[in-house]
Amino acid sequence: MGHNRASNPFTPDFGQTPAHLAGRGKTLTEIESHFAVGPRAPGFTTLLIGPRGTGKTALLNALVESCRSEGWVIVSVDAGTPGIHDRIGMVLDWLEHPDRTGLGTVQDWGRGRELIGAGFFGLSARWEIAAAPPRMDNRHRLAYLASQAGEHDTSVLLCVDEIHAGDQQEMRRLGDDIQHITKRESLPLAFLGAGLGDIYRGLLSGTKMTFFHRCHRLEVGLLTPAQAVNGVRCTVRAAGADAGARELAPILDRGDITPFHMQVIGSHLWDLSGLPDSPAGEWETAKSVELADAEMMNKVHRTAWYDLPVPCRRLLAELRQAGGAGVSTRDLKQSTGLAAAVMSHARRWLQFGGYILQPSPRQITLTGLMPDAAIERLAEEDEEVWAAGEDADETTNGRPADPMRCGKPMSRVPGRCTLRLGHAGGCRR
Ligand SMILES: Nc1ncnc2c1ncn2[C@@H]1O[C@H](COP(=O)(O)OP(=O)(O)OP(=O)(O)O)[C@@H](O)[C@H]1O
Ligand SMILES: [Mg+2]
Repeated sequence: MGHNRASNPFTPDFGQTPAHLAGRGKTLTEIESHFAVGPRAPGFTTLLIGPRGTGKTALLNALVESCRSEGWVIVSVDAGTPGIHDRIGMVLDWLEHPDRTGLGTVQDWGRGRELIGAGFFGLSARWEIAAAPPRMDNRHRLAYLASQAGEHDTSVLLCVDEIHAGDQQEMRRLGDDIQHITKRESLPLAFLGAGLGDIYRGLLSGTKMTFFHRCHRLEVGLLTPAQAVNGVRCTVRAAGADAGARELAPILDRGDITPFHMQVIGSHLWDLSGLPDSPAGEWETAKSVELADAEMMNKVHRTAWYDLPVPCRRLLAELRQAGGAGVSTRDLKQSTGLAAAVMSHARRWLQFGGYILQPSPRQITLTGLMPDAAIERLAEEDEEVWAAGEDADETTNGRPADPMRCGKPMSRVPGRCTLRLGHAGGCRR
């Protein structure tokens, strides 16, 4: 065991391009066909929305690759920290004068150019890009670039990851810019944004963000058990080994899982079995699934749980106890003891976060994003803390004192957020 780690093809991490992109064929084709239509297609500007680890970045990168191979010009940045317009400006500088900026590695690619590094890449076309007149702002530079692309029968793709973390002002300006270029001027500037469901409470909750409201939306979700098994199998195969469907069957027991979870399982399986030299067995798969549970708990579920306001946690706990599927909202209101307004806030919060589905207005179902076993365990931890009165300011007889409060733990100071549940913007005390 262990000797084969260096050859492990799995990527149990964030933002890493997977060896095999599982279960996203339909989504890719859908977006590609929107892109092929041009600025008039609603999907020419698309938002990819999904919980952590569902593979938004992986999907974004796959689309960048596919557009690049079509000869599109790519401007790819992330909104994780303020300064997105400067970053877009840097990519534009580089596209216009690749030799002057000294950014990353520049390779000649036909007559085009390729840059990789500094957390973004701008990839270019098979024609010479003309620099915009000096002192133009990004909007006009992007428009100028898009009109050149149009003349060469191609398009520009503006790709923005982590849009949920974007600065509101900057995002508003970005939205206005794209609206102007793509919608009003009908220039071939396609937009792809990716972010967490938090954007329903941020970017998509304001009345001013009209551009983002009008973007085509695609939910990036969990893989079905069959897609997860196939994903592991294809990854193993791409690395020159094999794993049979029967040997991988224990993965099916976990139901729908995130691609990240699939990578964690696959990675353990590779190491435990001694792939690629020895085959993967059913026992190794079962053991890997088990090891992955513990890892998911520590790396994902616990943090996610404590990021949820207390009423959301109660709702998840009661929902699980009631069987988790098609549970009536009325029963839940009773068992959680939450007021109607709090209940509806909590429900929306969990829905945006990808934890629950509402098959009908009066029913709630768990998605599996937070597995039953994790909910059970974390709810028990909550009960213990409340029973011990450790969070005394938070509780009255084990119940949250004020369920209307957000209750999210503060990141820099001790204590919890005292704002109203479902508040806009950052937490405060
Ligand atoms: N469709 C997929 N098939 C196989 N592996 C995938 C797939 N999508 C993502 N992955 C893998 O799962 C991990 C998480 O994916 P990724 O970073 O794209 O998620 P994300 O949704 O962008 O997460 P975050 O919300 O944290 O940004 C990555 O290491 C990636 O290699
Ligand atoms: Mg990501």
